[in-house]
Amino acid sequence: MHVLGIETSCDETGVAIWDSDSGLVWERLFSQIDLHAEYGGVVPELAARDHLQRLARMVEAALKEGPAPDVVAYTAGPGLVGALLVGAALGQSLATGRDIPAIGINHLEAHLLAPLMEPDAPGFPFVALLVSGGHTLLIEARGLGEYKLLGTTLDDAVGEAFDKTASLLDLPYPGGPALAKLAATSEGGRFTLPRPLLNRPGCDFSFSGLKTAALYAVKELAPDDKAGRAALAHDFEDAVVDTLVAKCKRALGMTGLDTLIVAGGVAANQRLRERLYELPDAQVRFPDAALCTDNGAMIAYAGWLRWNAGERRAYDVRARWPLDSLRPPSKEPHDG
Ligand code: KG4
Ligand code: ZN
Repeated sequence: MHVLGIETSCDETGVAIWDSDSGLVWERLFSQIDLHAEYGGVVPELAARDHLQRLARMVEAALKEGPAPDVVAYTAGPGLVGALLVGAALGQSLATGRDIPAIGINHLEAHLLAPLMEPDAPGFPFVALLVSGGHTLLIEARGLGEYKLLGTTLDDAVGEAFDKTASLLDLPYPGGPALAKLAATSEGGRFTLPRPLLNRPGCDFSFSGLKTAALYAVKELAPDDKAGRAALAHDFEDAVVDTLVAKCKRALGMTGLDTLIVAGGVAANQRLRERLYELPDAQVRFPDAALCTDNGAMIAYAGWLRWNAGERRAYDVRARWPLDSLRPPSKEPHDG
């Protein structure tokens, strides 16, 4: 059984084929980072147009070089509607043309399931920390489509906080990896930054206060103080990681679970990895760095899991689609 996955929710065009016996057998990924860099963020209209120019050729290559798909899985949301439409339209027409089924996949669920792709990965139940440019979620995952929201951000997403602070430090877009790289060159310890909501119960996050504190700190730095900028990057990363680690620990305690899965673009952060691996009595799993950011493989894989469990829904695209609104797979062909 082969599932062709299509991802176009934001600024990555991803196509992949998942083989139910041997795993990932074909993959291609194109990142539009250079296209959006001069604007300092993703421009929705440009993203959609670029997907349109590239996706058909990538799918053609998959069909020529990979095994024939039995099912098409495309990202139906959440994401940029114009961008999503490109993937959904092509996925659905491909399926119609080849007389095979198409199913719509939730992008967040695909991120959350990505770490399970590895052969020795743990299964349900687990706590998931989903940290990307648009989302900061702590989820109790009991089974496919059985997700309880334990905490989320009250303001900025953690990736957004990394990107905005990086921009304050004049680092190139996307800021997260650039800030992490600069942080690693310093011992830090020069700035006292807040750890918002740490002393409040629950698993919610807030990053806007931390970002404002970083803004004030930047203003006090002399323009040529390179060491100061690196120290600020280090102290900012430390504050973010401290907050994430504390809430993960709390989530594990609240649920009584011992498996923590970390997914999304910020899961590529080395410092976060090191600190979470140190959690006592917890089995912590990160996907391969290449699987942390958006890609087609995670859509193909989530498509396979859902299809295998009976999913038959071809969802329409949607900008918002909260993870905790998902349900276990359904054999109903339409989403109503
Ligand atoms: O999941 P993702 O590729 O895209 C979505 O937002 O869906 O996540 C991208 C985010 C960006 O904010 C980027 O700056 C951040 O992940 N990121 C990082 C690192 N690598 C990517 N943040 C901190 N440290 C990193 N090493
Ligand atoms: Zn994503």
